[in-house]
Amino acid sequence: MMRNTQPEPWRVKVVEPIRRIDRSAREESLSRAGYNIFGIASEDIYIDLLSDSGTSAMSDAQWGGLMRGDESYAGGRNYYRFEETIRSIFGLPHVIPTHQGRVAENLLFSTVLKPGEIVPNNTHFDTTRANVEANGGVALDFVIPEGREPRTRHPFKGNMDLVRLEKCLAENRGRVPLVMLTLTNNSGGGQPVSLENVRGTSEVCRRHGVPLIIDACRFAENAWFIKQREKGQESRGVGEIVREVFSLADGCTMSAKKDGLANIGGFLALRNETWVERLKNKLILIEGFPTYGGLAGRDLEAIAIGLEEVLHEDYLAFRIGQVTAFGEALSAAGVPVVEPIGGHAVYVDARAFAPHLPPEQYPAEALTIALYLEGGIRAVEIGGVMFGKPDPARPGREILPDLDLVRLAVPRRVYTNTHLEYVAEVTARLRATPERLRGVRIVHQAPLLRHFTARFELL
Ligand code: F0G
Repeated sequence: MMRNTQPEPWRVKVVEPIRRIDRSAREESLSRAGYNIFGIASEDIYIDLLSDSGTSAMSDAQWGGLMRGDESYAGGRNYYRFEETIRSIFGLPHVIPTHQGRVAENLLFSTVLKPGEIVPNNTHFDTTRANVEANGGVALDFVIPEGREPRTRHPFKGNMDLVRLEKCLAENRGRVPLVMLTLTNNSGGGQPVSLENVRGTSEVCRRHGVPLIIDACRFAENAWFIKQREKGQESRGVGEIVREVFSLADGCTMSAKKDGLANIGGFLALRNETWVERLKNKLILIEGFPTYGGLAGRDLEAIAIGLEEVLHEDYLAFRIGQVTAFGEALSAAGVPVVEPIGGHAVYVDARAFAPHLPPEQYPAEALTIALYLEGGIRAVEIGGVMFGKPDPARPGREILPDLDLVRLAVPRRVYTNTHLEYVAEVTARLRATPERLRGVRIVHQAPLLRHFTARFELL
C-alpha cells in the first residue's frame, strides 16, 4: 500500500477514460513498435509514466483562461499578464515567451555562445547539452559526487560541486559565457539543489564575472524541498524561497510544460538588457513576435495561471508526497530505486533489478518492455540505449554509461494514488521473477538520439 498521508487538494470535474488492452494485444502492439515504447499509440497504454512534461491536468481556472485568449498578432493582453506573473514570481524583468523550454535554450546558446566556449551545469538535461554542443560549445557536468551514486542518501543530491566550478572558471577565464544550474536535477534523478548551494554558485559566478542562468523547469518542486529539508527554511513561504533563489541568478530558461502546469510553452527571463535585443530579433525569426513567441494568446493565459497555482503549498505537499509514497512503496517491495526519491519521478536501477542481464543487453530497455507487457505501463529507459556510443577501440562494441535506469515520471494532477499503487504492484511482481525479463539487441537505429526510433529484437 502507498502511504501518501496528504489527500488531493482538488476534486475531479472531468474524466478521461483509459483502458488496459489485453496481453495478446499488448504483445502485438509492442512487436509492431519494434519493442520501442515510443512507437506505441497512447491509446494502447494504460498508465503512461513516459514524461511529466506537457502531461499535466489543467485546473478549471486554466481552462476558463483559455476562453480569454486574445489572439491579436501584437500586444495581446495575455502576454502582459504572463509577463507580470513572471516578473512577480521570479523578479526577472525581461520576459521572452517560447513554445518549449528547448527553444529558450536554442535562443540563448545560439546568441551568446561562441564555438569552443564552455558551459558548466550541475547536470545538463539532454536538450540543454544538445543546444550547447550544436553551437560548438562544451557542456560540463559538475554535480556533487553523491549525485552520481544511486544509493547514497543526501538531501540535496542536485547540488553543484563548487570546488570544481571554481577551478573551471579560474582555468578558463573569458571562455565561459554563462553557468547553468538545473532545478531540480532531472538527469540526476530529479534531485533538488539547496538554497545554500544556489548562494554558493552565485557567489563563485559573481567573483568571476560570469552570469548564472537557472534551468527553472521544476522550480516550485525544488523550493518545496528547500522548505522541507533545509535548516532555517521551514517557516518561509514557498514563494519567498523562489524569490530568493532567483534573486541570486541573472536569468532563467523555463519549460512551462513542467511546473507551469501547462501542456505547451516556455520562456527565457533575464535580469539585465545586454542580450535582450539580440534574443528578441532571433525570436522573431524562429518563433514569432515577442508578445506571443510561438504560442497562442490562450496558452500564455493558461501558463500565467499555472505558474501561480504551482506555488500553492497544499498542491506541493500532495505532489511531492505522492511521488515519495510511490517510490517508498516500490522500495518496500524490494525494487532498487534511486534514493532519496526525487521530485517528479522514481528512477529504478535496472542492473540491480535484473542482474542476469549484462549492460550490453540493455537491462533498462528490457524493463520498460516488461512493464508494458505485464501491465500496460509506459516508462522510459535512461541508460545504454539513450547514451551508448560506438567504441572506436573495439569495433562493433559500445561505450556504455555507468547506470541503466528506468524513469517512472509522474504527470501532475493526473493519476490517483490507486493508479500508482497498481504500477508499484506490477513492478513488484516483475521484481519477484526478474528472470522473465529478456535482454534486447538493436536491429535499427538513427545516427543521433537513437532511443526515440530504435527497433529491437528480444534475446
Ligand atoms: N530542461 C529540463 C531540466 C528538462 O527536463 C526539459 C524537458 C527541458 C529542459 C526541455 O524542455 O521539453 O519544453 O523543450 N524534459 C522532458 C522530460 C522532455 O521528459 O524530462 P522542453
